Amino acid sequence: MSKSLQAIRGMNDILPEQTPAWRYLENTLVDLLDGYGYKEIRLPIVEYTELFARGIGEGTDVVDKEMYTFRDRNEESLTLRPEGTAGCVRAVLEHGLSGGGQVQKLWYAGPMFRYEKPQKGRYRQFHQVGVEAFNLPGPDVDAELIVLTWRLWKKLGLADAVTLQLNSLGSSEARAAYRDALVAYLQERFEQLDEDSQRRLTTNPLRILDSKNEATQAVLVGAPTLGDYLDEESRLHFDGVRARLDAAGIRYEINHKLVRGLDYYNRTVFEWVTDKLGAQGTVCAGGRYDGLVSQLGGKATPGVGFAMGVERLVLLLETLELLPAELNRAADVYVCAFGEAAELAALTLVERLRDELPALRLLLNSGGGSFKSQFKKADKSGARYALILGDDELAGRVVGCKPLRDDSEQQSVAWDALAEHLAACQQQA
Ligand code: HAM
Repeated sequence: MSKSLQAIRGMNDILPEQTPAWRYLENTLVDLLDGYGYKEIRLPIVEYTELFARGIGEGTDVVDKEMYTFRDRNEESLTLRPEGTAGCVRAVLEHGLSGGGQVQKLWYAGPMFRYEKPQKGRYRQFHQVGVEAFNLPGPDVDAELIVLTWRLWKKLGLADAVTLQLNSLGSSEARAAYRDALVAYLQERFEQLDEDSQRRLTTNPLRILDSKNEATQAVLVGAPTLGDYLDEESRLHFDGVRARLDAAGIRYEINHKLVRGLDYYNRTVFEWVTDKLGAQGTVCAGGRYDGLVSQLGGKATPGVGFAMGVERLVLLLETLELLPAELNRAADVYVCAFGEAAELAALTLVERLRDELPALRLLLNSGGGSFKSQFKKADKSGARYALILGDDELAGRVVGCKPLRDDSEQQSVAWDALAEHLAACQQQA
């Protein structure tokens, strides 16, 4: 027997029973972004590999180990996007959206791809909603992005489930000076570091701060901290962000070890973290990247943004049972028709009802069937009423309207009065 076909490991189908939660989350977020004046941009899933190598940075795990890179028929090296910021910057540049200091506030949503070890909350195809703002150098927009996410948590009922970690990486010069100091410190203790951290000492030393290895963490206790290397302007910027978060009543924890896994950040970086999902607890992360636009060939343009992991947020909503019950609302009415003539009449009747009562959820029986089987389907559908149309009803231009969720009697309703009757039933409910 041939092997049955399966989805690729770490790339999941989102099944019909799951999609209402996804839509709830996405719609809530999109309404919020609309309210803050952020505009949607749709970006390709595949880009030239060079974009990510230059944007995210060689030496990062994402670029070195996790990209889905392939050659197309024209021998071009292409990559499935591992994140959205680089592509967004590329599009902004390509279409001149940030020229002349124009402010842009953008968002995008969609699948991203990273060859990571799949586990709960970590997948090879995952989905992000990302937000990016351009040409706004001040701390006000950093704070706005955080305030916006805070409002989302409140709307979703997650405010008590997430905490905000905040740090400033300073200017790229300050970061470079700090990197040198950290490398010098760690070099002297090289033997005590775990293997991964030893490798990172030459490729991406700041990531060592993130190491989960206990021995490495012990070595880091006495290491120089990023906060001591902040340049004056970055310190003022950071104070500005904090003052705004304080004014908005948003609590945060300063975490000097928060450095992020992508190379483009400077100054503010932040992560919203939950302890309810196990190891993959970061549900939203971002920061400022004032150097990225010029690194990708544009004029110096400040940028700042974040992305949230849709799978992780849906998991969190499910875990905490915060999904509204009405997400799985059944149909209101199930229409049963018996025989060819009744089926034809039912079709036109149902379409008329859809015109007259657009909010009504109507299921028209498909595939014929006996009285018993159609009734069974009507019951299983969860609908509150069954409409019944057979030869007798057809002759009398009426339908039988049977309540399915209580014991009240079936009524005979004239076709012309049906919309009114169903509207009244809806109001009673
Ligand atoms: P990131 O931290 O790499 O940042 O990803 C953002 C979020 O995407 C994570 O916090 C997590 O919720 C989710 N995520 C990442 N990898 C996975 C995975 N393998 N499986 C499931 N969820 C995942 C970025 O991507 C930046 N582009 C964010 C940003 C936008 N910074 C500035 N603007």
